[in-house]
Amino acid sequence: MADLAKIKARIENLRSQINYHNYRYYVLDRPEISDAEYDGLMRELKKLEVGYPQFITSDSPTQRVGAEPLEAFGVVQHPQPLLSLGNAFFKEELFSWYSRTLKLVGNKRFDLVCEHKIDGLAVALTYLNRQLTTGATRGDGLRGENVTQNLKTIRSIPLSVSKEAPPRFEVRGEVFLPKAGFNKLNEERAAEGQPLFANPRNAAAGSVRQLDPRITAKRPLDIYIYALGWAEDKPTPPTHWETLEYLKSFGFKVNPNNRLLSSIEEVQEFYYTWEEKREDLPFEADGIVVKINSLALQEQLGEVGHEPRWAIAYKFPALQATTKLNDIGISVGRTGTLNPYAILEPVSVGGVTIRQAALHNEDDIRRKDIRIDDTVIVQRAGEVIPQVVGPVKSKRTGKEKIFTMPKRCPVCNTEAIRGEGEAAYYCPNAACPAQIQQRIEHFVSRGGMDIRGIGEQLSSLLYREGLVKNVADLYDLKKEQLLKLERMADKSASNIIEAITKSKKRPLSRVIFALGILHIGEEMAELLAKHFGNMDRLAKINQEQLLAIPGVGDKIADSILAFFRQEENRKIIARLKQAEVLPEEEIVRAEELPLSGQEFVITGRLETFSRQEAEARIKALGGTAKDNVTRQTTYLVVGAEPGSKLERAQALGIKELSEQDLLKLLEQT
Ligand code: IVH
Repeated sequence: MADLAKIKARIENLRSQINYHNYRYYVLDRPEISDAEYDGLMRELKKLEVGYPQFITSDSPTQRVGAEPLEAFGVVQHPQPLLSLGNAFFKEELFSWYSRTLKLVGNKRFDLVCEHKIDGLAVALTYLNRQLTTGATRGDGLRGENVTQNLKTIRSIPLSVSKEAPPRFEVRGEVFLPKAGFNKLNEERAAEGQPLFANPRNAAAGSVRQLDPRITAKRPLDIYIYALGWAEDKPTPPTHWETLEYLKSFGFKVNPNNRLLSSIEEVQEFYYTWEEKREDLPFEADGIVVKINSLALQEQLGEVGHEPRWAIAYKFPALQATTKLNDIGISVGRTGTLNPYAILEPVSVGGVTIRQAALHNEDDIRRKDIRIDDTVIVQRAGEVIPQVVGPVKSKRTGKEKIFTMPKRCPVCNTEAIRGEGEAAYYCPNAACPAQIQQRIEHFVSRGGMDIRGIGEQLSSLLYREGLVKNVADLYDLKKEQLLKLERMADKSASNIIEAITKSKKRPLSRVIFALGILHIGEEMAELLAKHFGNMDRLAKINQEQLLAIPGVGDKIADSILAFFRQEENRKIIARLKQAEVLPEEEIVRAEELPLSGQEFVITGRLETFSRQEAEARIKALGGTAKDNVTRQTTYLVVGAEPGSKLERAQALGIKELSEQDLLKLLEQT
């Protein structure tokens, strides 16, 4: 018995430690322990819970992973409706809302809270006995879907809260997918031939409304809480601002950019500031929300329809526009996919002129009923390629033409095939000039062998002239051959030859990536390089061994095996080796490296090496290189003409390194 009591105590102790570190990591962005230590705690807890299932509780951190697929979502009745918001698009509309409201409250001045209007999915989280019992979508405002299991996988949502919180209450907030996570998810989907998400909001909604919580768990979702829905048996603060502070004190994640302001002019300033910086935000915001701070005033003002009088959404200019779809072109991807794209009447969207936009595949075009000569809505979201959202059917004249995929590859005229259950058509001809040219282009690209001076045009020319028929031919190129090409200057030819020679020193991970094996991105290439150390070992691997590597699934394993099975590819590898291109890489375990656990962000221009080289050297020593400054950033490397990252790093008190400091650090370690 005594033993059982001890075990129970240890389980509880582990849970509170893990909850504390979750909060530090996911809510405060200020972890105190390494991932490895965290994993150790989690492992111990899981093991104890397997041995003593009687001690498993629904708020245990192990329960976030999502057990079995849900049958279907149940319906949740919201005790108090989730409202929507009225919109203002122009300054005049904001100011007229303000004066209307001022009048309604008898011309007494009031404070305002400004927040980002996050483009995600509204949810309501109910805590009974201070434990998360229900998580629901907004639905129609009165009835939402029960997505508790899925929301439990979001680490910034506390599963239980402290004794200071009311015993029963509901909070509301916006679940979102940060832009970086969105881009990554779409890249993965593109590689797998799955339809892409049009924007982070759809991706977040799609992720939360998954029948299988294990899929939700894999998406890097986050949440900002923006209101207390209702609370019982404890007094709550009298203002919205204090409520946000109050919720923060129970472990809820609240947007740190929220501001308490006292005049509508300051609101306008807040709006301008963020309109300008909106691209820098790690999440998508489509405007700001302005709320009256006093909850008594909020109550007094009430709502009309579903919209409160005490708040308004002040929207940023849309990143959408309408234009004419002049034609649909087909490009041939490196792996032979035939990708339809829209040829548009040029149009400006949020300050960028768009001439072409992605159309994913024939099914997608059909589903959206997009026709040639349609007026279409185009959209930019994050850093992704502009997309065609859909047609404006009311503008149709009847002359629009329905698109059908060509039956043959537009470049080599080989009959196109469609894989079973797949959306994309392929040109199966591995010798298709379009594919070969793109393989060459990919091989020489910066992320690959980084052979400067050979871009799209020269790759194509070298191929057409018969000088480079596959990537290994690059290493046989002579300066004299280059000089015979149209408009090739002596200096450029020397530079290219030099760049080719230099590329022989590229690390193994880059070579693997450069080969353009289906589904092998930069990260996977790094993983493989670290694991195998040289190409020979990788080429000899079997499926079982591949699948034993964490992070390698069936798709990747099959793709690697298929690549090395092809005689042509084996010949290329052998020739690269002959040309001394295939480097050895030390097989290392990431956690043993000197810069393990340290996160670097680079801003501005570096003088001694390219950003990519710097990042590669950081990674080689076990560090990570990220694009954005967060609280987890260890160092900001400041080059010439630094960008806005510097300001952010300074605001967060993050250590800065000059290029010299970085060099020293890299050389010492
Ligand atoms: S307050 C009555 N605050 O906008 C107040 N909503 O159009 C309504 N949203 O369904 C919610 N960021 O999904 C509020 N900081 C924020 C928000 C926000 C995004 C969304 C939310 C809501 C919709 C209302």
